Amino acid sequence: MWGGRFAAGPDAIMEAINASIGFDKRLAKQDIIGSRAHAAMLAAQGILSDKDAGAIREGLLTVLSEIEGGTFEFSTALEDIHMNVEARLKEIVGEAAGRLHTARSRNDQVATDFRLWVRDQMDTAIDGLTALMQALLGQAEAGADWVMPGFTHLQTAQPVTWGHHMMAYVEMFARDRSRFRDARKRMNECPLGAAALAGTSFPIDRHMTAQALGFDRPAANSLDAVSDRDFALEYLSAATICAMHLSRMAEELVIWSSAQFRFVTLSDRFSTGSSIMPQKKNPDAAELIRAKIGRILGANVALLTVMKGLPLAYSKDMQEDKEQVFDAADTLALALAAMQGMVRDMTANRDALQAAAGGGFSTATDLADWLVRVLDMPFRDAHHVTGALVKLAEDKGCDLPDLSLAEMQGVNAQVTADVYQVLGVHNSVASRMSYGGTAPEQVRAQITRWKEALA
Ligand code: ARG
Repeated sequence: MWGGRFAAGPDAIMEAINASIGFDKRLAKQDIIGSRAHAAMLAAQGILSDKDAGAIREGLLTVLSEIEGGTFEFSTALEDIHMNVEARLKEIVGEAAGRLHTARSRNDQVATDFRLWVRDQMDTAIDGLTALMQALLGQAEAGADWVMPGFTHLQTAQPVTWGHHMMAYVEMFARDRSRFRDARKRMNECPLGAAALAGTSFPIDRHMTAQALGFDRPAANSLDAVSDRDFALEYLSAATICAMHLSRMAEELVIWSSAQFRFVTLSDRFSTGSSIMPQKKNPDAAELIRAKIGRILGANVALLTVMKGLPLAYSKDMQEDKEQVFDAADTLALALAAMQGMVRDMTANRDALQAAAGGGFSTATDLADWLVRVLDMPFRDAHHVTGALVKLAEDKGCDLPDLSLAEMQGVNAQVTADVYQVLGVHNSVASRMSYGGTAPEQVRAQITRWKEALA
């Protein structure tokens, strides 16, 4: 492609470090769509004859079908996807192919291809998150009023409802989804026509190509258009936060599916066995999802590091943007699909959840609140009295509702039998009617809101 200036070809090592075709072949479709839009625009502007543009656009479709059919021979000597496609186009349509690169550069070409690719991944993530939210809603609806322990410090804190816990993740994944949507809106500007860095002297119509490729508008500064990758970084940042949420949820599934908890049973379809211990059913998918954030965050850090300190405009460093994003996108899509499948298939064990709900003196706060409400005690005093009652129950090896009224009155004489009502876990959750609280009525309202939003 640059034989005019060069007497010798590259060293094999040079070729090896320089070539990106090994991975940027994944941009083939975007490259061809972008080139077809460019050719049509050149013809519309009278820069290219209709005949040449027609031949180029047809020929590009042939190249695409060869690539998709697996018959295309990629060449490392041709460096990257852009030159591989153009060289093959020349074999198919002849000299006209040489006119396609008028008024553009590989710099705006790759920036456009990569944007199109990342934009698709934003959509994939948005769809994957929607499906996961739907699976969570299904779980929440089935057990909107099932009681379970809520934890802080992974110590039993207060009873909550299963539906409430599921809906907490719906909120998190909804924010992830909106992060991808925000980023998608911001990134949807077309670099094509920025050419190498300065724009072009040809009378191109950048609005036409932008529109043809589904962008909202052409990018307004040619230097910026070819030299930033912040759209990919925003994708990776959103992906990293999403992977963090997935990791937290995966950790809960690992804990909950253990013999010690038995809060959930994962389906056989999303579990594995042990080659030596016949009794084992392992939550491998959850463990892998828990781990995947390592790769996604790694990609995020790697690309930020590549971009940091780069002077404007394009530098070859930026070829290092792709593999990271490709791997992160594959990883995220798989993790979202696996989590969705696991959540959809899992069975929450209502009895085990309920049995655990009352353990660990989980209604101690309800008792303290009762002392405040009924006996008009200052909360700090109520906290103290409740602490003494917990200590008493702990010494006796029983739960709070198992203490007799006489035992309670031994700690505070004003306590009445009325108190037992608030010591039950169902009353406890039902009483938490504050907006966003764990009461089944509140949870059902949130489920309805989200079902409408997703419909
Ligand atoms: N393969 C290159 C990349 O991914 C394409 C752009 C090459 N541009 C250049 N001026 N050498 O960044």
